[in-house]
Amino acid sequence: MVRIAQLTDLHLVERDHGARRGVRSWRLSFLSAHRDLDADDRITRATLALAAVAAAGVDHLVITGDLTEDGTVAQFEVLAEMLHACGVAAAKITLVPGNHDVIDRRDGWARALEGPLRAFAATSQLGRPFDVGDLTILPVNTAFYQHWVMSAGRIGPAHAGEVADAIALGRARGRVVLLAQHHPVTTHRNPVVHWVDGLRDHAKARSLLRDEPHVHVMHGHTHRRRDRSLDAARAAQVFSACAVVDGDAPLRVYACVDGVLRGADIAGDLGALRR
Ligand SMILES: [Fe+2]
Ligand SMILES: [Fe+2]
Repeated sequence: MVRIAQLTDLHLVERDHGARRGVRSWRLSFLSAHRDLDADDRITRATLALAAVAAAGVDHLVITGDLTEDGTVAQFEVLAEMLHACGVAAAKITLVPGNHDVIDRRDGWARALEGPLRAFAATSQLGRPFDVGDLTILPVNTAFYQHWVMSAGRIGPAHAGEVADAIALGRARGRVVLLAQHHPVTTHRNPVVHWVDGLRDHAKARSLLRDEPHVHVMHGHTHRRRDRSLDAARAAQVFSACAVVDGDAPLRVYACVDGVLRGADIAGDLGALRR
């Protein structure tokens, strides 16, 4: 049995963000309009959640995007420092970017994996599957460079081809495949809201999952814990977790048993951990 932990949506900010001026300051205020712009609280929340992961003794940790508030080098350095200190080996951690992580620069995520996050690059290569016991994990990119008032996602034709290849290879090898990504494959009811905040090519993404019971999706972005089925006759295949930045129980632990990934338990209640 393989046990996988998920954390998502840390939205880390640098401690000296008050020194920002002009558009970079306005941008941060806009992005944090719905939550306190408190760097220490966000760092504490993430530190406690990572400590819960270490205590759970899982086989692998997936962090499904929006790791930072607006993808600056200083914020990636905050994240790297926490990950190196958390007690989970770098080879057991996979990071995928969220829409917030590619706000500062078009190539911000690539530069972060070559810089502060290089210790985690081997297990965070977008489109490159790797095995953890019975499970094959595929880091999937849904984040793209757009204006900071937008929060949409997109997989794109070339990357969708890599995802399709990984799914087909997993089927041929008889493996359970986990797509680790930021945006959900579902749609907003309001098409305008979906254009601003949803996965633009959701229909293509869902078509890749059709008739593929061996494939599971783990995503963030919604800041809510939810399990969804893609077919009424099948168990849940799409999972999300509460955000570390504003959720009370952000750690989810899943178990891969007999070819199926299931939410095993919810651990790491931040209220209990603070006491
Ligand atoms: Fe988020
Ligand atoms: Fe997001």
